[in-house]
Order: sequence, then C-alpha cells, then structure tokens
Amino acid sequence: MIASRRRFLRYLFGAGVVGAAACYPVFIERRMILETHYQIPIPNLPRAFKGFRIVHLTDLHHGLLVPLSVVEDVVRRVNRIPRDAVVCTGDYVHEKNGTAEIDRVWPVLARLSAPEGVFAVLGNHDHLADTRRSLYWLDRSGQDLRGKAKVIERDGQQLWLAGGGDLWEDPIDFDRVLEQIPEEACRIMLVHNPDSADSRFSGHIDLIMAGHTHGGQVRIPFWGAPVLPVRNKAYASGVLRTLKGHTMFISRGIGWAIYPVRFNCFPEIAVVTLA
Ligand SMILES: [Fe+2]
Repeated sequence: MIASRRRFLRYLFGAGVVGAAACYPVFIERRMILETHYQIPIPNLPRAFKGFRIVHLTDLHHGLLVPLSVVEDVVRRVNRIPRDAVVCTGDYVHEKNGTAEIDRVWPVLARLSAPEGVFAVLGNHDHLADTRRSLYWLDRSGQDLRGKAKVIERDGQQLWLAGGGDLWEDPIDFDRVLEQIPEEACRIMLVHNPDSADSRFSGHIDLIMAGHTHGGQVRIPFWGAPVLPVRNKAYASGVLRTLKGHTMFISRGIGWAIYPVRFNCFPEIAVVTLA
C-alpha cells in the first residue's frame, strides 16, 4: 500500500517536472521581455555621436499569443528608456492576408518617440499580411525609412540612417539608398533580414541593424539555434562581422513565428550605445 502510494507520488512528481519543462518555453520565457544593452564600436563615428543611444525594436509579431497589451507595454517601456533614437526593423504583425492586426498595431507603434526621431522599415510578415496597408501606416506614422536616407546632425557633425527593405518580399538595392549619403559620412543601415548583408552592393556601411531571426527562439547550450530562417547560419543574433566585413547587430526581437516558444533566447528590447 505504502509502496504503491510512493510510486504514485513519484509519477506525480515526474509528470509535474515534465509539465513545467514543457510550459516554460511557451508560457514563461516567451513572455519575459528583457531590456538588453550593447556597446558597439564604430571607427568612423563622429565625436559628437559617441555615446549615442539607439533603442532597437523588431519582430513584435502582434497577433496570435502577442496581444496588443504586450505591444502597448513594450512601447511604454521604450519611451521611458534614456535614448537618442528608436529604430524598428519590421514584422509588426503575425497574420497573413489581412489588415486587422496592421490597423491595430500601428497606432500604438506611432506612439514611439525619441529626441532624434523614430525610424522604421518593414519585414516579410508585414508584406505577407498586406503590403499596401503596411506602407500606408509606415508613411502615416512618420517613421518611414524604407528606401530612404535621413541625417541627424550634432555640433556640425552628421550621422546617417538608411533603410533597406526585406530580402524576400521587398528587396531594395542598398547602393541606390546609399548614393543619397555623402561618401565619407557615418552610415547605419536598417534591414529586416540579415542575409541582406551578403547581397550585392558596394557602398560603405558602418553598421547594419537587423531582426528577422528572433535569435532562433530556441538555443541549445554549447550548440546554438537549430532553426534559423536565414541562408547564413552565422547570422543568429548579437554583434557580429558579416561575410563582407561589416559590423552587424541582430536583435532577438519580441515575438515568435513557426513555433510559440523561446528557450535560452529571451525576447529583448535592445539598447545599442555607439562608441
Ligand atoms: Fe519575425
């Protein structure tokens, strides 16, 4: 009798451990949005921009399992972080062939603010939902950097931000964007898909900022991410050097795609300080 009770309790304990382990990636880590800080050396950075702080938001994927309240909370948090600029690199919605999530998420994204501006490009999911509606809101928000270049000036010195598109759904020739910028100027390029860094372009770029990968969402310790939606599997997350020698920062982003899980790959609001 006592032995069977012990066995039952052992099973119960085992089932509890398995249940907790299964719940953790879906219900706990996926919802723990960290504020993470990165310092990125830029040799060509003008002195007036040393310490310039950029909050990088990407891949919110509002929709299934990412309610608007999460987006509202993220926007509130970003607007409280000491920052000079905010950049957003796409995938704001989850749905395909629909405009409801686009129409809900953009009025919230439009509340993002920063002293030197908010700059955004679109991701593949924004196009898969509805290209025209996403472009409409991108323009209406005043954050549109897609295919554009904008300058920030301090003490007579310049920092340029340039916007690419999405490699899969809206490829934009980097050189056509970069030719709007003085040759020697310091340039930061926003793109959605980090594989864009390996595309054909010749103009110089000092920093590429990307999203899309979600860091792989699941990272096996001592191994890495088994699922990465990029051709170059070295482009997972963090600060790295591209095949062409550029410095690139890839944020793990906020939301999910394919599977609603995160393990050893927390969602993040990335705060990048230029040095
Ligand atoms: Fe994404």
